[in-house]
Amino acid sequence: MSLYEMRKSYTLATLLEKDIDPNPMVQFKTWLADALQGDLPDWVEVNAMTLSTSDGHGNVTSRIVLLKGIEQDKFWFYTNYASEKAAQMEANPSVSLCFLWQHLQRQVRVTGTIAKAPRQQSIDYFHKRPRDSQFGAIVSSQSSVVESREVLEKRLAELKQQYGENDTIECPEDWGGYCVSPTAIEFWQGRESRLHDRLRYRSNGSDWVVERLAP
Ligand SMILES: Cc1cc2nc3c(=O)[nH]c(=O)nc-3n(C[C@H](O)[C@H](O)[C@H](O)COP(=O)(O)O)c2cc1C
Repeated sequence: MSLYEMRKSYTLATLLEKDIDPNPMVQFKTWLADALQGDLPDWVEVNAMTLSTSDGHGNVTSRIVLLKGIEQDKFWFYTNYASEKAAQMEANPSVSLCFLWQHLQRQVRVTGTIAKAPRQQSIDYFHKRPRDSQFGAIVSSQSSVVESREVLEKRLAELKQQYGENDTIECPEDWGGYCVSPTAIEFWQGRESRLHDRLRYRSNGSDWVVERLAP
């Protein structure tokens, strides 16, 4: 089938003003819980989100990261502080997140500002990760050019040899968490005839204002 013939009809649900919570974080948690419900295939990662960042010159990049917490009304994820995304967020703290829950015909877009997690929080989370992921974080200086896959595998093997089975692996200085404080969150529900529901919560400094956007 050719791409221009590919289209789906969205008829699963509606998103109406009367059904939403006044707090977008509560609404987000409801939709996240919805996304997790049912007999999902193993490969589905409902906490996968697209993170878009840009530098001071307007160059934009996007990639998937995993949402690892919703606390203090912020979205938390973990990455390498020397990566390309980290350099961009250092230059420009404005970021965007986008979740796609295709099985519910839903999308959530977040715009906000980024901040680093407290060091202790990053260390605590690092030690909750599988041991192999901890080693991986140490050997990979994320987003840098590497000579070959073999170089990385050799580094990993050498590193593993230095540790006993029960030795604690220290969290690298250049690895840790970030949180996104939202300034706007848009909930999108696919509807028939492309008349989708879009409700955007926009912070006016003290309250959340809900506006319906044209699809
Ligand atoms: C499903 C999925 C989950 C991912 N989760 C993370 C993550 O939580 N943190 C992370 O740093 N990279 C994660 N990645 C890898 C990133 O997409 C990206 O390749 C990496 O962070 C380097 O990005 P950068 O060079 O733009 O900094 C994930 C990729 C996929 C496909």
